[in-house]
Amino acid sequence: MKADLFFGMSWLICVGLVGAARAGNSARQQDLLDADWRFHLGDFQNTVLVPNGSPVTGWRWTPATDDRSSDVAMAAPALDVSGAAWKDVEIGTDTFRGRHGFVWYRVRLPFVSGVVPVLHFECVDDNATVYLNGKRLTSHEGWSNGFDVDLTPAWQVGGPNVLAVLVENTDGMGGITGPVLLQTERGYRAVGPAVPSFDDRAWRTVHLPHDFVVEGTYSENADRNHGFLPTTNAWYRKTFTLPADDKGKSLWLDFEGVYRDSIVWLNGHYLGRHHSGYTSFRFDVTRFANCGGENVLAVFVDARRTEGWWYEGGGIYRHVWLTAAAPLHVAPWGVFVTAKLPEPGADGKAPVATVRVETEVANEGTSETHAVLETKIVDERGKTAASAVAVILMPAGERRTAIQEVAVKEPRLWSVDAPHLYRLVSTLQNENRTVDQVSTPFGIRTIRFDAEKGFFLNGRPLKIQGTCNHQDFAGVGVAVPDSLEGWRVRTLKAMGANGWRMSHNPPTPSLLDACDEQGMVVMDENRHLGASADNLTEVADMVRRDRNHPCVIMWSMCNEQPAAGTKEGGRVFAAMRDTVLKNDPSRPVSSAMNSGWFGDGFTYVEDLMGVNYNTQVYDRFHKEHPQLPMFASETASTTTTRGEYADDHPNARVTSYHMTDSSWSTVAERPFVAGSFVWTGFDYRGEPTPCTWPSVTSHFGILDLCGFPKDNYYYYLSWWKTAPVVHLMPHWNWPGLEGKDIHVVAFSNCSRVELFLNGKSLGAKEMPRNGHLEWTVKYEPGALSAKGFDAAGRMTAMDIDETTGAPAALCVRAERTKLVADGEDLAPVEVDIVDAQGRIVPTANNRVSFSVAGAGYIAGVGNGDPGDHDPDKADSRRAFHGKCLVVVGAGEERGGIDLEVRSPGLKSASLRLRAGK
Ligand code: GAL
Repeated sequence: MKADLFFGMSWLICVGLVGAARAGNSARQQDLLDADWRFHLGDFQNTVLVPNGSPVTGWRWTPATDDRSSDVAMAAPALDVSGAAWKDVEIGTDTFRGRHGFVWYRVRLPFVSGVVPVLHFECVDDNATVYLNGKRLTSHEGWSNGFDVDLTPAWQVGGPNVLAVLVENTDGMGGITGPVLLQTERGYRAVGPAVPSFDDRAWRTVHLPHDFVVEGTYSENADRNHGFLPTTNAWYRKTFTLPADDKGKSLWLDFEGVYRDSIVWLNGHYLGRHHSGYTSFRFDVTRFANCGGENVLAVFVDARRTEGWWYEGGGIYRHVWLTAAAPLHVAPWGVFVTAKLPEPGADGKAPVATVRVETEVANEGTSETHAVLETKIVDERGKTAASAVAVILMPAGERRTAIQEVAVKEPRLWSVDAPHLYRLVSTLQNENRTVDQVSTPFGIRTIRFDAEKGFFLNGRPLKIQGTCNHQDFAGVGVAVPDSLEGWRVRTLKAMGANGWRMSHNPPTPSLLDACDEQGMVVMDENRHLGASADNLTEVADMVRRDRNHPCVIMWSMCNEQPAAGTKEGGRVFAAMRDTVLKNDPSRPVSSAMNSGWFGDGFTYVEDLMGVNYNTQVYDRFHKEHPQLPMFASETASTTTTRGEYADDHPNARVTSYHMTDSSWSTVAERPFVAGSFVWTGFDYRGEPTPCTWPSVTSHFGILDLCGFPKDNYYYYLSWWKTAPVVHLMPHWNWPGLEGKDIHVVAFSNCSRVELFLNGKSLGAKEMPRNGHLEWTVKYEPGALSAKGFDAAGRMTAMDIDETTGAPAALCVRAERTKLVADGEDLAPVEVDIVDAQGRIVPTANNRVSFSVAGAGYIAGVGNGDPGDHDPDKADSRRAFHGKCLVVVGAGEERGGIDLEVRSPGLKSASLRLRAGK
C-alpha cells in the first residue's frame, strides 16, 4: 500500500504541465521538454518492435556479375527465374559468405487492394538497388539503417508486380538480412512502453541531456574505438499535459539529437524513425496531441550500431522542444539571413551592409489569408537598426517564401576578437493581430578564402588556429549541457584557438551559439558521404539548421572517404554540394581528405580543399591546383598522457615528449594554407591509439578529457597567443634519479630562454619560431626554472618546477560558482592535491571523495587518466597526477550548493556554489 502511494506520488510529479506560464495565445510558445523523463535501459520485457505490414516471401536469388551492363535485363519483369541458376532463399540468409560482389534477388509481390503500398526493408547488407517491374526506383547505401521504398512510380494496380533487388556486399556477411514488408501504413505498431497506458512508475527519472552508455561499466569485450563501454538500447517516456487553448494551433516536436535510430510515438501514434545520431529532427504532432489533457511521448533508442569510430554515447543527449504556433507561422528553419557588404579595408569597417532575409511562411490553416511579415534587425543595445514589411498571400496548406533586403549602416561586424551579434526579429501579423514571432541571432561579416593568401575575415587575414573535437566530456559523456559547451569554447579560446572543427558530425546547436558568442570560426561537418535521398536530407537539414550562425565559415561534406579520389566520388560530392548551395550559397563547400585520395574526384568539385595530415603534399598540391584555396582540415594527432614522461602502452601511458611543432610550423610558414584544425583539442573516449585495453580514452587531446592542460597546451599557447609564455616540462619530483639525466623541454614564445637549476644557470638558448627548446639536466631536487627574454633582453615570462613535499591538502577551484537552477547547468570543479606549501603534487593519486548538499548534485567525476576504469557517475575518484574533477550540477530549485572534498590524511576543502535564476 505504501509503495503504491509512493509510486503514485512520483507519477504525479512526472506529469509536467507544458506551457503553464503562457500569456495569451498570440505568438508562438516553445517549451523545453528536458525534465522528468522516465528511462529504462535495454529491451523492456521482450517488447519486440514490429513494423506494420505483411512480410514479403518467396524470394529467389542468383550471383550477379560485377559487369553492370546486364542490369536492365536482370531487372526485367519477364526474366525467367525458374532455372537452376536461381535458388530459393529465406530472408536473413548470408548469400555472400564473406565474398565481395553482387547478388540479385527477385520476388513477385502479392496483390494489394486500394492504396499503393510502401516497401520497407529492415536491413540490406550492404547496398541495395531496387527495381519494380524493370524500373529503377532507388538505391540505398549502408547496412545499418532500414529504409522505405515508394512503389508509386512503377506499381501496377492489378499486378503483376515484380521486384528485383541488386545487393552489393563490401565486407563480411551480406544479403537481405532483415525483414521486407509491404506496408499500407508506415511505421511501427505501438507495443509495450509505446502504449500510452503503459505503467512506467518503476522506471528511473532522468533529466536531459542524458547519455546512458557513459553510465555503463568498461569491458574488454566492448568495442575499442567506442571506449570499451557496452552499447545497448533503451526506452524513454515523458508524460505532460497541454493547455486546452493549444487546440487549433500547429504543434511540433524538435529533437536536437538522439543517439541513435530512434522510433517515436505520441499517444500511441507512430511519429517516425530517425536513424542519424547526429542530425536534428522534427515531427508535426498537430493531429496527435491531446490539448487540454495528458500526452505520452515514447522514444525507443538503439545505440548498438555505430556511425563513427569514436565514443558516440547513447540516448536523448540533446534538447527536446515542443512548439505551439498559430497555423500561420514562420516555418521551422525557414529563416535565412545573409549580409552583403564591401569587404572592409585596413580599418576593418564597412559603411553599410545589405542584409538579405528569406522567410518561409507556412499556412497550415484551412483558408487562404494574408500574412504581414515585419522583419526587424535589432542590435546588441536593443536598438532597431533596420526593418522592412512584406505582405504575402498565403493559400491554405501552402508555404511561401518572402525575400526582403534592408540596409544596416555602419554595422558592428562579427569577428573572433569582437563577436558582435544582431537579432533578426520576424513578426507575422494577420488581420492586425500578431500571430507569430521568432528571433534569430546572426552576425554581419565577410569571409573569403584566397588560394594564395589564405582566409580573410572582414578583409583581414586570419590564420585559422583550430582544433577538432568530438562531443564527449568527463563525467557526462556526450550529454554535454549548454553551459559546458560554453566552457569548452572558453577554455580553447584561452589557449589562443580561434577555430573548431565539428568532427565528424553536426554538433549540438548550443555549441554553435557559444562559438557565435565567443568568436570561434567553425567547420561544420556532415556525417555520411552519399547522394541517396536520405544522405541529401541529412546535408540539407544540417545547412538549414546552422546557416544563420556567423561562426560557420564552411560546410564539410565528409571525412576521409576513399571515394574522394574517384570520379564516382566526385559525382556524389557534386550532388551534396548542390544541396548545400540550394540552402546556402554563401559559404564554401569542402571536405577532409587523406592521402592517396587527392587528385581526381572531390578536388574538381569542391570550393575549398581540406587536407588531413600529409604536410608533404601542401606545396605540390598548391602548385598543381593554384586556383583552389586549401587548409589543413586535420593535423598533429600527437599522442600524450597528461603528466606522463615515459611510454608504457600496456598501462595506457604515452610520453609527453611527443612534440607537435612540425605540424603547426608547416602551416604557419605557408600563407596559402588557411590554417589548421589540430586533432584534437580535448581527449575523448575511444580510439586509444597507440594503446588498447586497458586504455579507454584517446591520447590525442591538447587537454585531457577533464579539460586539464597537458604540456603540449603550452606549445599552442606560445604560438597562438602573443602574451609572453614560458613552460617547463617535466615536473621536478624524481626521487631516486639524483644525478641522472633528465630531458627538459621549454615551450615559449620569448626570443631567448635561460634555464636554471637551484639558481645556477644552465645556459640560454634562442627560441626557434614555432618550435621549442631542449636541455639535458642532471637531476637534483629543488627548483628548475626558466626565464624568457624579449628581443631587447628584458625578462618577460618565467616558469618554475619545484620538487614538492608530500600531499597535505586539497584545493578546489571553479571558473564559475553561480549556476542557473534549470536542472541542466553544470560547473566543472577542479580538485588539486597540494603539499604543505600549496604546490600541486604532480605524482599524487590519492582517492578523493565528494559530497554535495543543498540545491545541487554530483553530475559526474573524472581525472583524465586513460587507464582508469572507475565509473564517471560516482562520488569519489582517484586523482591523476595531482588533479581530479567533480562536475557539480544545479537542480531546479534555487539555493546554495555546498561541495565538500575529502581524502584520508589530507586537509579537506569546500566550495560554495549557488543555483539561481
Ligand atoms: C584521422 C581521422 C580521425 C581520427 C584520427 C586519429 O585520420 O580523421 O577521425 O581517427 O585520424 O589519428
